[in-house]
Amino acid sequence: MRHRHIAGLINVYEVSDPVEIKAVGDDPVIDRSFETSTCPVNWFLLKRSINALSFRGRRFPTMEPRQCSSRARAQEQLWQRLNEQIPDIKAGPVSLAPIAEWVKGSGRDDAVGILTQQLLGGLFRSNFTATQETWAAALVLIKAPRSWNLPMLFWWLTTGKLKRAKAVLAGQVGGDLSAVNAIGIAVHNIVKGLHHMRALYADTSTRTALSPDAAAKQCLRAPVSIYRQSTADGTVLGIAFKKHSLFVLNIGVASQIDDGHSLVFMENSWSRCPAALWVPAMLEGVWRRASEK
Ligand code: HEM
Repeated sequence: MRHRHIAGLINVYEVSDPVEIKAVGDDPVIDRSFETSTCPVNWFLLKRSINALSFRGRRFPTMEPRQCSSRARAQEQLWQRLNEQIPDIKAGPVSLAPIAEWVKGSGRDDAVGILTQQLLGGLFRSNFTATQETWAAALVLIKAPRSWNLPMLFWWLTTGKLKRAKAVLAGQVGGDLSAVNAIGIAVHNIVKGLHHMRALYADTSTRTALSPDAAAKQCLRAPVSIYRQSTADGTVLGIAFKKHSLFVLNIGVASQIDDGHSLVFMENSWSRCPAALWVPAMLEGVWRRASEK
């Protein structure tokens, strides 16, 4: 764990080791309550994320604290609903045909974004329609929480570009922020994985050697990082920390190394992704459909 600390300016712990990420993630004092009354660099990092990942005064579920009961209820309901669909999606149904065709090499390289957004939006609204506009909105949204391009962020703030992007996405899913997270943020992790799958498929020997399950495993991609903040002074891994310290958990890197695979979806944590079983099943279905049908 690396501590960047200059008194009165910055107090950030960067965590990249899988064992350390699990320890920080399990600590009851380290949460997603996110208060911005803190030192300037921490304030900027948090404000940038909260601003991007909130809509009309409500935070996205990925920015809500552990004890938020409506968050936990929605997480459980989505988990149940997605898991019921696993046998069907794993088999490679017709709804996966456009993505499977893309994996097989048809269409432009960047066409997979809209196709994946369509699949995810359809989980929440039967009449969801992904368009160039909804995909452009997703490209704006994914950049906003972590970008260091300050002139661009300032421009988006003053012109309302980021707000409009979220309104476009929320308008398609009746303001459901779990759905906005799926079609605006999570979709990019799946798209990254599908690009890898297209490369695997292009190699004929890999295509025949890989089972659907093994192909799906190779195509899981985590978010680059997730944030936590301490709600009180405490100690983790023998290191004392102050209230309002920011913890940046680098799960993107950590999930690609041994012992870190469960971090793709924070599987053993209270914040476990409700799509932790559905996404691998869907990738398996895509590979199965692309290679067998
Ligand atoms: C490759 C695809 C995906 C990856 C890698 C991923 C990863 C994650 C991770 C790591 C978290 C935990 C965040 C934290 O601990 O702060 C999370 C939370 C969440 N994910 Fe996913 N996700 C993916 C796809 C999806 C999809 C498709 C959906 C919806 C259909 C979804 C819905 C959610 C929600 C609602 C939460 C918040 C859970 C809560 O704390 O209440 N995710 N996801």
